[in-house]
Amino acid sequence: MEAVTRVGQIGLGAWGKNLARNFDQLGELAWLCDADAEKRREFTVRYPKARVTGDFRDLLGDPKLDAVVIATPVPTHYELAKTALEAGKHVFVEKPPAMRAHEMEELCELAHEQGRVLMPGHLLLYHPAVAKLKRLIDAGELGDVLCVYSNRQNLGVIRKHENALLSLGVHDLSVILYLLGEEPAEVWAHGNAFLNEGVEDIVFCYLRFPSGKIAHMHLSWLDPHKMRKITVVGKEKMVVFDDMELERKVTIYEKAPWQPSADWGEWQTRSGDIFSPKIPNDEPLRLEGEHFLRLVAGDGDALRAAYDGLAVVQALEQLQASLVAAPA
Ligand SMILES: NC(=O)c1ccc[n+]([C@@H]2O[C@H](COP(=O)([O-])OP(=O)(O)OC[C@H]3O[C@@H](n4cnc5c(N)ncnc54)[C@H](O)[C@@H]3O)[C@@H](O)[C@H]2O)c1
Repeated sequence: MEAVTRVGQIGLGAWGKNLARNFDQLGELAWLCDADAEKRREFTVRYPKARVTGDFRDLLGDPKLDAVVIATPVPTHYELAKTALEAGKHVFVEKPPAMRAHEMEELCELAHEQGRVLMPGHLLLYHPAVAKLKRLIDAGELGDVLCVYSNRQNLGVIRKHENALLSLGVHDLSVILYLLGEEPAEVWAHGNAFLNEGVEDIVFCYLRFPSGKIAHMHLSWLDPHKMRKITVVGKEKMVVFDDMELERKVTIYEKAPWQPSADWGEWQTRSGDIFSPKIPNDEPLRLEGEHFLRLVAGDGDALRAAYDGLAVVQALEQLQASLVAAPA
């Protein structure tokens, strides 16, 4: 019989409850930890078989616990992940695992030394629509990719501890780096903190890659539109992933620039069919959890996700530096 992975989770908030539901179904949810007594009461009722504590050290001290899931606020991730790796646990940590590149580098090295999995929770990388985009790009269906841009806007949730770049941008950044398979040569970010001092509510980011491809992200929780959209502009076709759509998550446009030789090479445009391929309805969070448990079981490259996560934190840190340096 296959051994069931024993998972302990710290952070039982708005997102943590989704992680707990999945890990309860996929493995054995052995420990639950939160600083808030009310949360502990609520989760004791929901998961009566799990042991519940306010002290993370209880999880780390249990030799039978295989893995730890970290779903606390971003500024706490690095320290918690570090202590869990030092205690010999496999670690799944919500995005981003660290706010500074040198911290993420340290976590990657620690995971390597300890022979443990370190997986950042870049949820969108497990979205079947993103997998479709990647296949289209890698198969050359879109021709040369010129530009990727994302829109992640809504009215709320207004956060106090992490700005729109850290809270929203990290999703798009992970996808853009994954789709393009490159790290940016140049980045800039502009934005402003309108509601809470030092916490930017609206952020615009630009990235340029060594190949010449460019990317843009519009991130905001002060916006009339709820948008969750990634657009890829290729030289042969263009494709849009719209996560607000229930059925047509991905739309492929046969639209492109065109240079007929009869017209002295003048650029024209052509528009052909527009169609939506079927995208499986699998829950990305479940796929993400399954991937983590497969890595813990020794199936797959234990450190690949960690090093991909390092590239995200590096770009994030550069964008944050540009945001802070930009004149108000
Ligand atoms: N992948 C996604 O799509 C997604 C979506 C939302 C949030 N997130 C991430 O999930 C994480 C949690 O977000 P949230 O919205 O659930 O936050 P939240 O504020 O609702 O919950 C955080 C919980 O952590 C607890 N906590 C904080 N510090 C603690 C500590 N030191 N020890 C024990 N408990 C502690 C708090 O009491 C709270 O219950 C964040 O990193 C966020 O970026 C990811």
